Parts: sequence; C-alpha cells; structure tokens
Amino acid sequence: NFTPNAFVEEMVGELKEKLGNDKVVLGLSGGVDSTVAAVLLNKAIGKNLYCIFVNNGLLRKNEFQNVLDQYKGMGLNVKGVDAGDRFLSELAGISDPETKRKTIGRVFIEVFDDESHLIEDVKWLAQGTIYPDVIESVSVKGPSATIKSHHNVGGLPDYMKLKIVEPLRMLFKDEVRRVGATLGIDPELLGRHPFPGPGLSIRILGDITPEKVQILQDVDSVFIEGLKSWGLYDKVWQAGAILLPVNSVGVMGDERTYEKVVALRAVESTDGMTADWVHLPYDFLMKVSNDIINKVKGVNRVVYDISSKPPATIEWE
Ligand code: XMP
Repeated sequence: NFTPNAFVEEMVGELKEKLGNDKVVLGLSGGVDSTVAAVLLNKAIGKNLYCIFVNNGLLRKNEFQNVLDQYKGMGLNVKGVDAGDRFLSELAGISDPETKRKTIGRVFIEVFDDESHLIEDVKWLAQGTIYPDVIESVSVKGPSATIKSHHNVGGLPDYMKLKIVEPLRMLFKDEVRRVGATLGIDPELLGRHPFPGPGLSIRILGDITPEKVQILQDVDSVFIEGLKSWGLYDKVWQAGAILLPVNSVGVMGDERTYEKVVALRAVESTDGMTADWVHLPYDFLMKVSNDIINKVKGVNRVVYDISSKPPATIEWE
C-alpha cells in the first residue's frame, strides 16, 4: 500500500537530516531512476546536489542536448560532460560484447571521477538504485545479471571514498514512476523506455566506429519517432534498432547496392527478465522500413526480430 506523497515527505526529511550541509554528487543517465533520485535530492538539499550527465557518444540521436536542456529546465544543478570522442576512441577495434561493457564502465568511472574531483569537498555519491537492482546484484540470480555484466550497480570504485546515498533502493519501478509524477516530472520522461548503460555500443554488432553510431542513431530515431506518431510507443516496454555486421545486396534505380542490414526489436515485458516480441502492425512496419531505407544512407534492408526471451535476450549482445 504505497503512497508516493507520504514517501516523498518522509524521504525528503530523512535526506535533509542525513546530508545536512554536505555536498552530494550524482550521475544522471537520462533514465527514470536517476532523474527521480535527483529531483528528490534537489528538493531536500537544493544546490548542494551536483549532477553530472556524461555523453558517452552512444546515446540516442540528439539525446545528450535534449535531456540536458530538460534537466536544466527542471532546476537541477547539472553539468553536461561531452566525452563521446574519448569513449569512441577507447572502444575502437573492440568487438567482444563484454569487453565493450567493461571499457565503457571503466571510462565512465574515469570521467565521473575526474568531474567529481572538481567539486570541492564532496562527501556523498547518490545513486538511483532501485529494489530490483539491489536484489539482482546481491543474489546474482537473474539471467541478465549472470549472462551480461551490468555496470550500473556497485560499479564505482572505493577510491572515490564517498559515502553512498540511495533514496530509491526500497522501491519498485512503478513506485519510482509514481514518486516522479508526484514530484511533477514530465510524464514523457517518466514513460521513457529502458535504455542500457552501454547504449548503442551493444546494438552495433562487431566493432564500433563513429559512422556506424551515426547510422544507428538515424535508424533508431526513425523507428522511435514512428512508434510515437503511431501511438505505439507506450504500448511497448522497450524498443530499438540493431546494426548488423553484414552487408546485403539490393537495388536502387538500375544500380546494384551492397549495404548494411538493420534489425528492429520491440518487446513487452514487466521487468526485462522475460520478454515477448510485440506484434507491431504490418502497416507500421512497412512504413518504418521504407522510411529507414529512404532516409538513412548506407542501409538497404530492414528485418524485424521475432524472438522472445528466453531463449533470446532483449539486446543482441
Ligand atoms: P537482456 O539483453 O539481458 O536485457 O535481455 C535485459 C534488460 O537489461 C538491459 N541491459 C543492460 N542495461 N547495462 C545496462 O544498464 C547493460 O550492460 C545491459 N545489458 C542489457 C536491456 O536493455 C534490457 O532492458
């Protein structure tokens, strides 16, 4: 019997007491959990909360600037750090999915650590950890926790020597969304699909180059905007596009083409542990496929992923 209003009131009081006049640093990801954690902390300690939003170069198209503007509009004390080039150069030549994750995790920590050292006398690290993250990282039961090394929990090193504050660690996702609504956060932001920390890197099969990132951002944007304009976005739990490491033959005018294949994925799920592929309308798939091939240079074929989890996972890597 969870009441978001009571939670907010109680937690703000608790945070004020616990944190006093201390400075707190928090990494924003653009996702629901870190955003709700930030707004809650902002309510409790205001300008003593220092938010850092890192562009790893693997976000969705225009996402870094859009989300940063949105955060500023919410009155958060936020610094955007554009480290895209650094991430992409460290990732160059890496094809193995776990090595991609580890590289991104490491570079993120380096960037975040550098940034937090610029904040004088910071005492706390705030995280948007929620209850399922706690369970998954303690018992390491979930298939995704054992099969893929998620880096959002416990990923920050001891040498940062910060005390940890996690105001959402007893909440489930739907409760976090309700708290966010109570705090007046834009419903569109609260309704955002989950997006993996390693971002588009694990949706580019094989090695990552800036050109591939741009192709995938463009494809993903056509797909996601299409879902929104057809009223399908909120009916889907998660959706995205995958850039495959193969070329296929096509024809354009009287020219033979030999270009990239992309896969579209849309799933229904409650917690990501199991998932069913969504029966998107054929008319929608037809329109989106045409739009992608017409608008995105370098892509001549679109396929739709009709595998459920298990045995397939949601991400392809
Ligand atoms: P899978 O692919 O394991 O994904 O079925 C389940 C959910 O987890 C997300 N995912 C990740 N999230 N870091 C993250 O923060 C990761 O390394 C990672 N791998 C998968 C995935 O997007 C889906 O929501």
